[in-house]
Parts: sequence; C-alpha cells; structure tokens
Amino acid sequence: MSKLKSTTELKSLQEKLGKTQHRDRPTIVVSSGTCGRSRGSSQVYAAFEAGIKDRGLADKVNLRDSGCHGFCQAEPNVVVYPGEVFYANLKPEDAATILDETVGKGQVVDRLLYADPGSGKKAAKLGDVPFYTKQKRLISGRNILLDPTRIEDYLAIGGYSGLAKALSMEPKAVTEEVVKSGLRGRGGGGFPTGLKWQRLGQGTPKYVICNADEGDPGAYMDRGLLEGNPHSVLEGMVIGAFAVGATEGVMYVRTEYPLAVTNVTRAIEQARELGLLGENILGSGFSFDITIARGAGAFVCGEETALIASIEGRIGEPRQRPPYPSEKGLWGKPTIVNNVETWASVPIVVEHGGEKFASIGTKGSKGTKIFSLVGKVNNTGLVEVPMGTTLREVIFDTGGGIPDGRKFKAVQIGGPSGGCLPADKLDLPVDYESLTAAGAMMGSGGMIVMDETTCMVDIAKYFLNFLQEESCGKCFSCREGTQRMYEVVDRITQGNGRADDLALLEELATMVKDASMCGLGRTAGNPVLSTLANFRGEYEAHVLEKKCPAGVCKALIHYRILVDKCTGCMACAKACPQKVISGEKKQPHRIDQSGCIKCGICKDSCKFDAVVVE
Ligand SMILES: Cc1cc2nc3c(=O)[nH]c(=O)nc-3n(C[C@H](O)[C@H](O)[C@H](O)COP(=O)(O)O)c2cc1C
Ligand code: SF4
Ligand code: SF4
Ligand code: SF4
Repeated sequence: MSKLKSTTELKSLQEKLGKTQHRDRPTIVVSSGTCGRSRGSSQVYAAFEAGIKDRGLADKVNLRDSGCHGFCQAEPNVVVYPGEVFYANLKPEDAATILDETVGKGQVVDRLLYADPGSGKKAAKLGDVPFYTKQKRLISGRNILLDPTRIEDYLAIGGYSGLAKALSMEPKAVTEEVVKSGLRGRGGGGFPTGLKWQRLGQGTPKYVICNADEGDPGAYMDRGLLEGNPHSVLEGMVIGAFAVGATEGVMYVRTEYPLAVTNVTRAIEQARELGLLGENILGSGFSFDITIARGAGAFVCGEETALIASIEGRIGEPRQRPPYPSEKGLWGKPTIVNNVETWASVPIVVEHGGEKFASIGTKGSKGTKIFSLVGKVNNTGLVEVPMGTTLREVIFDTGGGIPDGRKFKAVQIGGPSGGCLPADKLDLPVDYESLTAAGAMMGSGGMIVMDETTCMVDIAKYFLNFLQEESCGKCFSCREGTQRMYEVVDRITQGNGRADDLALLEELATMVKDASMCGLGRTAGNPVLSTLANFRGEYEAHVLEKKCPAGVCKALIHYRILVDKCTGCMACAKACPQKVISGEKKQPHRIDQSGCIKCGICKDSCKFDAVVVE
C-alpha cells in the first residue's frame, strides 16, 4: 500500500478495506495472546488452518489470529461468526468438529461450549457468557475484531478515524476534548490526562512517551492491548503529539513482553508505510515518529522519571519532582508520559467526543477500566467495566466467585503497594475516590482475589519482599524501611513475633511513606497498613498465640491425621515425599513430625478429609 496523502484518502481506504473483509463469510477468531499461546492456541489455529485447507474452504471461510479475548480461564478459545458462538478450552482436534458442525451445518457443538462453574449452565454466544455480560469492552473489545499484525484490519473497522478527526481540528481543541472527557491516567496516579497535556511546558523538541513497563505482579492489561491492538495505542500517541506539538515519541515496553514488542514494531512500520507516522502525516504538515525503548524488568523503571533516565541510558532511578517531565522530561525537554491504556482511550475520546466518554462512569472517574482479575477466582482474565462497578460485581458476576465453594476473604487492588480490602468492602464502587478512601487505590488495574486459605500476614510479606527487592535504594527511608518491615513481618510468620511488633510495623510504614521520594516508597507501607487495619486479629494470632489461622505459615502449623477418619488407605503414605507417614493397611496412619516438611501433599491426596492442618 502506498502512502496516504490526505484524510480523504484514508477514508476511502477504510471503506475499501471494510468491503474486502468478507464479513458475510463464516469467520473463526482464535484468541491468541501470550496467555492463549501458553495454553496451546497456536496449535488450535494450525489445526483450523489445516482443516480449512483439507476441506477446500480457503475462499469460503475467514480464519483470524487475534489478540487476547480477555477470558484466560477459557483459553484456548474461539468465536465463530455468524452467531458469535463461543467455544472454550479447545484442543487442536476440536477444530475439525467445529468446521464440520458449526461452519458446515450451522450447528452448535454443545460439548465445547463454556459451562458456568457454579450453575453448570452453558452459554452458546459470547454475549451470554457471564464473564462478558456485565463488561463494557470499549477499549479491549476491539481485539476480537482484528489480527494485530494487519493494519488493514484496524483500518477496516475505522481505525485512525480519531486521528483524521484530530487533524481537522485545532491542536488546542483536541486537548480540550480530552479535558472534557474526564479521562484520567490509567497507569496508577489517575492524573487528568487533558490537564497534563495543557500544562506541557515551552521548548522544542517536545516528546510523548508511552509507558508500557507494567511491572505489577499479576497485571497484564497493557500487554493485552499492545499485543492485541497496537495501532490503537499508536493512534492515541499520534493524536496526543499533534495536540501538544510533539515531534518524537517513545514506546517504553518491557522486554519480557516479546509478542508485544514484535506486534508494536510491526505496527510502527506499517503506520510509517501508510503515512500515518513520519513526515507530513496524511498531508497535514504535521510530522511525528515513534521509536521503541525496551525496559529491562525493574519495577521502579515504570516511575516516569526513572523511565526517562532509563531511555537516556542512565541508571533507572527516580528523581525529585518538580520539575515534572512536562517541564523537564526526556533530554531535558517538555515530555508527556502516559500509560498504554490511557493512550488507547484517546482515539475513542476524540472520535466520539469527550462528552460521550464522560457519560460513562462516576462523577470523578470517567470511562471504563481494564483489570486483570487473578487469584482465587473462577474466571480469571482481563475484565473491562465502567468506572463505578462494584467489587462484588467484578469478582462474583464477571469473575464467577470463589472456586471450590470456599469463602471470599480479601481482594488486593492497586499493585504491590495497593491495599487488601475485606468482604465488608465488596459493595464498594471501583473508582479512584472510593478506593483511596477505603485505604486501597486504583493503581494500574491489578486485582488479586484471595480466599479463606490465604494468610494475610503472608500476603503482606510477599508484597514487602517485592518492594524491598525493587526499591532502587536512593532514599534511606525506602531502602532501609522496606527491609526492616520485611524482616518484622518475616519473623512474625516464623513464630518469633514480639508483642510490640505491630506498633513497630505501623511506625515504620508511616515513616517510609512520609520520608521517601517516589511513589514506590510513598506507598510501600500500604500492604502492612491495610492488612493491619482489616485483618489485625490474624497478626495477633501469629504474634500472641503463635498460630496461623489460615494454615499457611509453615513454622506455625503441623499436619495431623485424624484417627477416627483415617481408613488406612495408604494413599498419603505413598505420596509423602519424606516417607514420614506410617501405618498398617486399613489401620489409622500417623505422621512423624520430626521429618515432615509441611508440603501438604498428604492433605491433598487424602480422599477422606482425614489429614488436618493445625
Ligand atoms: C514505582 C512506580 C512504578 C510505576 N509503574 C508504572 C507502569 O508500569 N506503567 C505506567 O503506566 N505507570 C507506572 N507508574 C506511574 C508513572 O510514574 C506515571 O504516573 C504514568 O506513566 C503516567 O501515565 P498516566 O497519567 O497515563 O497514568 C509507576 C509509578 C511508580 C511510582
Ligand atoms: S522511594 Fe524508594 S524506589 Fe523511590 S527513589 Fe526512593 S529509594 Fe528509590
Ligand atoms: S490418605 Fe487419608 S485415609 Fe488414607 S491413610 Fe492417609 S490419612 Fe488415612
Ligand atoms: S506434609 Fe508433606 S512431608 Fe509432611 S507428612 Fe504430609 S506429605 Fe509428608
């Protein structure tokens, strides 16, 4: 395809491509993000490809390798059109059945449909699958409509129309539209995006940066967008650059996301080829280009000043703000840093208008937010909901509740230094203000669900360990404080907690928060403060009674076989890696505690619930 010289040429290409997409043909869309691939989606795709060839259907059926459809629990999955039939957890051999039955005869294959783990009810259409019904997939929903390696697919669904509209406006008016939308940064801080753009300082060149560092444990919203719809992020960046007068952009993406790096690299090349990036974009006289910088996996490099230092080849350490990057950013020049999801929202805001975007969500939090819903929840995946949706709706309606009939205990929200909210906060609306008031924060969208088998002291220890390892060490308070907090929580889990440890933890957490420079240190006390606020009794049981109520902390538990329940089946004795379980066949067994490593295998292997943790 040759370079487009005007927005009119873009429009006619969009229309032409829209017509050549063969939307009237049966179409099979394979969810093929990193999570899908790790569960075999590439093999499923190959089986469809071979099946289509064998049946001579190459000119009659579309097969699309798309980005992630969000529903990780159901990977590999496909959607078949017409009918939007959703098939879950497929194996390569299922491809032939789908081709013969659904594509060939228009029949739904019941055994391949998704069944709700609670009710067992099957859903034939994607829209009827409970995971999707309460979502509003404004940003992530387009993944299903395109192959991320083909700019043609993005253009065919109207991609780059937001840019075309922006180019027809005054740059200032574009920013005003973003202000009107109420869009706030999705990378953690929630700063109003339009206001950030309006505050960009004077000087040339100006830069825009896409922050795709995404280092929070368990979070992968940005990966899903970059892998599945890279052009939406690029389009947002070009619009932003036009609005603020930037000429260069940087995509800072973590190197641990190889598929995202590949897809973004290709997307940049394609956009350049079509004149959507580079000199004189769409004949507007506006020039802007994007390069890729790869992050090396340090969590702190997601902090904007550390990220800029890392791009410049310096040590990835935050620096004091002000000056903010908007005044003194990359190479000392005015720079806008926005998150992947923020950038992907921009074309939607501009194309449909700020007011429309602002009609979704709550008073102070507009639009939708993508969360990575993980942990002890039935339906794990990327969930996009309007701001203001309650935690209960996300975890129980979309997430399908807690597996194995266990009870919900807490949800950790806001990244490693977010907060753990207990069951009485389930009706809290998910928006910036409500989460902060409840002692958590929106963060970038990690949501980790915990059930009654989770020890909250152990959870605080996990996040403190992460933070003390990821602290860059520049501030004494953060460097030493995170280590000391970790040590105190560690000794509590070892059964060596002291009576004054809880007060010491609170003091340390407050000191680290008050005396540290960047967001990592300033929020590092949250795992401790929020678990202490909501689960203090659990800390007290560890310190005063030397007990772990959830049965997790190894130093405080032991496994015992209940004589009256043990049938002497010997399964545990065979499974025990230490061979410390003895007993005659059909006689109660016992554990030699001195050699037990508390691995829990005996409990898992006993069918009679005879092994208990005490
Ligand atoms: C320790 C730390 C890590 C961060 N990591 C990220 C990240 O991975 N991605 C991100 O977009 N923002 C991250 N941020 C926030 C950025 O500093 C910055 O606020 C954000 O990229 C601005 O974009 P937004 O306004 O669109 O949210 C991090 C902040 C801190 C303190
Ligand atoms: S608060 Fe922690 S991570 Fe941030 S600059 Fe200081 S030492 Fe580094
Ligand atoms: S598996 Fe259970 S029932 Fe069987 S011997 Fe072990 S404790 Fe007893
Ligand atoms: S917890 Fe592990 S080591 Fe201990 S008795 Fe059970 S299986 Fe053996």
